[in-house]
Formats: sequence, C-alpha cells, structure tokens
Amino acid sequence: MNDEKMVILGGVRLRGEVKISGAKNSAVAVLVASILVNGKCVIENVPRVSDIYNLIGIIKSLGCEADFVGDDTVEIDCSEIKSYKATGAAVRKIRASSYFMGALLGRLHKASVDLPGGCDFGVRPIDQHLKGFKALGADSDIEYGVVNITADKLVGDTVYMDVVSVGATIDVMLAAVLAEGMTVIESAAKEPHVVDVANFLNSMGANIRGAGTDVIKIRGVKELHGGSFSVIPDQIEAGTFMIAAAATGGDVLVNNIIPKHMESLSAKLEEMGVGIEEFDEAIRVFVKQPELRRCNVKTQPYPGFPTDLQPPMLTLLTKAKGTSIMTENVWENRFQYVSELNRMGAYISLEDSDEAVVEGGSKLVGAPVCAKDLRAGAAMVVAALMADGVTEIYNLKYIDRGYENFEKKLKKLGAQITRRCVNPMPDFLKTAGEK
Ligand code: EPU
Repeated sequence: MNDEKMVILGGVRLRGEVKISGAKNSAVAVLVASILVNGKCVIENVPRVSDIYNLIGIIKSLGCEADFVGDDTVEIDCSEIKSYKATGAAVRKIRASSYFMGALLGRLHKASVDLPGGCDFGVRPIDQHLKGFKALGADSDIEYGVVNITADKLVGDTVYMDVVSVGATIDVMLAAVLAEGMTVIESAAKEPHVVDVANFLNSMGANIRGAGTDVIKIRGVKELHGGSFSVIPDQIEAGTFMIAAAATGGDVLVNNIIPKHMESLSAKLEEMGVGIEEFDEAIRVFVKQPELRRCNVKTQPYPGFPTDLQPPMLTLLTKAKGTSIMTENVWENRFQYVSELNRMGAYISLEDSDEAVVEGGSKLVGAPVCAKDLRAGAAMVVAALMADGVTEIYNLKYIDRGYENFEKKLKKLGAQITRRCVNPMPDFLKTAGEK
C-alpha cells in the first residue's frame, strides 16, 4: 500500500491569516450524542478529518443516516436506529468510540462496544465511564475486548469521578440525559468540548446545568428533538498554529477562535517573550524580540495547559536558550516522540516518564522523522518549520486524524510544504513506525 510523507523546507517565517476549523474532539462527541436524538440533527463546523469519517461510518452501521451535506455540515438522523452494537476495526481505531457506550446505553439501555483505541500514550482505562454507568443502574462486563452494558432502566444518581476525565464526563452525561431523575457528576472535566456537548444536548431539549464547572447536574428528559448546532473552534489546532507562528518568528493572525480557550497557552508564549494581541475571535502571534526566554510548563486538565499542546510546545522550547522543563500530568507516556526531535538536533532528556528537560538554544536540522501519534505529528511539523533544511515526516495517517487541510493552511502562511507518495517504505519506518 502507498503511504504518504510530508516534505517541509524549514526556515520560513509564517505570515498572514489562518482560519481555524471546528473542534475535532467536540465534533466526535456531538456526532455520537446525536444517537440520543429522535429526529434530524444538522451539525455545522465539523472538520473533515479521518476520525470524523470513521465515526460517520460507525453511526451508519447502527442503521442511522449520517453524511456530510456541505463543506463542514453533517446531517444525522438516528430516529430509526437499529443496533446497539458498535464493533469492528473502525471502532477500535478511535478513542471517541467510547462515547457509543453512553449514547447507546442512554437511548437503547443496551450497548456492545469494542474497547476504544486512539493514540498510544500508555494505559487508557475506561473504569470511570463504567463506574458512572453503574451509578445509573447499568451492569457491564468486558468479553473478548467488547464492553457489554445493559440496564432495565436508568435512574439518576451522584457520580464522584476519581480522576478528571473528559471522556468519562461526556459519557456519563450521554447516559444520563434520558434517565429518570437527576444525575450529578462531581469532579467533572471542564474542557471546552464538555461544555459544547452539553450545549448541543440542551439545544435538542436536554436539561444540563453546570457544564464548565466541577459539578454537572443533568435532569433526565423523556425525549430529545432534532435541530441545528455549530461546533466550537478547535482549541488544539489554534494552539498548534500559535506555536508554529512563534517557532518560525512569524506574524500570524489565528482566526475564528475563542481566545478564552487559549489563555494558558497565550500566557506561556508571553512569558517566553512572544507577542500576543487578542481580538474578539482571533489572536495575533508575532515576534517581539529575537531570542525566546526559557520557561517551565505543566500540563493540567482545563483551564490548565492542555496535554494535547505538550508536544508542539516542547518543540518550541528547544528554541529558547537555557533549561526548560515540561511536566506531563495527564498521560503516563506522552513523550515517545522526543527521540524524533533529538534526531533533528534537539537536546531533550527524559528524567522520568512524566518529565522532559530541554537544553534549548541550538538550531534543529531537517531529518526523516515519524509522526508517533496525532499531536506528536503536529510537533514534527512545527520542528520541520523551525529547522534548517528539509524534513520528511512519515506516518501521516496520525496527523490526518485531527488536522483539516493542514498543508493547505500552512502553505497559505508561506510554508514550503508538500505531500508525496512513499514507495517503497524507507527501512527506518519498519522499526520506528506505528505501535
Ligand atoms: N482516565 C482514567 N479512567 C477513565 C478515563 C480516564 O483513569 O475511565 C485517566 C486517563 O488514563 C488519563 C486521564 O484520566 O490519565 C485523562 O483522560 P481523559 O478521559 O480525560 O481523556 P480522553 O477523554 O480519553 C480526551 C481527548 C484527548 C485528550 C484528553 C485529555 C478526545 C477524543 N480525546 O481523551 O485528546 O488528550 O481528553 O485532555 O476528546 C488528542 O486530541 O490528540 C487527544 C488525545
């Protein structure tokens, strides 16, 4: 099979304006949440990325209608849903398929879902999802990699999350929307996409209060009706472009975003000496001084610094003179891509599985590298844009999961970037490739 590679000639300062797409992590949840709706949902601002195409296929396999009807608009009608089984290779590929557990349970009181996949950064448990379903009265077991969940009826209760989990918060919300009585989620995740899913469900007739705080209260309703909804802009795509602008010493207006969602990143960039100018729906990122200052970054659940921006941010830190420390507090093993940055001349050591120490200030040099996962792939692109010479990035299927028109948008900002077929596969890919 032909694979593809991105070829980037580094050293160009990015300049101009980029329009950010709809949030992938919100859209995946909203599409699956449509299963709860008895009617047609028109979802706008959906990015055309491979995770979305995969989900649409899975939703269709349940007997629902789902398709893109415009550039960024998906219509879904699950009125005639026929199956409670979401299984198969597509389900196993993406993490967001865990939302089929909550949505099918909520709608049909029964769900059989392949254990979800997603990027590999250590164990990705679902215990908090199952704990939430149990509190609502559902039983679950895992058999041959399939999670089976059933309930005679679902009755609201209080669910105390042991960890702050985006996935479990959304999943329990999905299961609770049509349950009897009140469900309370304590220690809920506050990420923008949690709020977006609650807003979507409310606009279809649900009664959810408190999304965006630690405590979400869901009063069950009898039925959800169809309607239209527009997904929020992608916080992580926006952050990736902001970092790329800073990394190339450029001047970029990152448009169609919610600046509030970017505060933790904007603050860190300012700390490093990068110029940040905020508008209602845009942020301009520009060079203020020739040298960047070092800084330490710790990832945290929202409103902290997002773990999904950790790889591009660590890449930017290689440019700042001195020692910077990146601490990963969300995932147990999210530094696998560091070896690729070091192949490009970075000096990063892993003190622990959760801490990377960067000796910054030396220039990166182009090299053939692999995208080890989605955001690590984005980091490779940022590194390539910063580097002297040509970088070839392999394993693009990871990047394609979450970045819409990545090359096209970068090209418009002046990047020297192209995509080519790889045939045959280079030897190093056979050992350093996907897991
Ligand atoms: N966790 C548990 N038990 C659970 C669920 C999670 O212990 O039942 C732990 C995880 O092991 C992790 C932490 O809780 O240490 C946070 O996991 P969370 O459930 O919040 O992650 P997720 O819902 O699986 C979403 C995003 C990820 C993003 C994380 C954290 C989607 C589809 N994925 O994953 O995004 O890293 O939240 O913000 O929304 C990406 O877009 O590249 C990506 C990986």
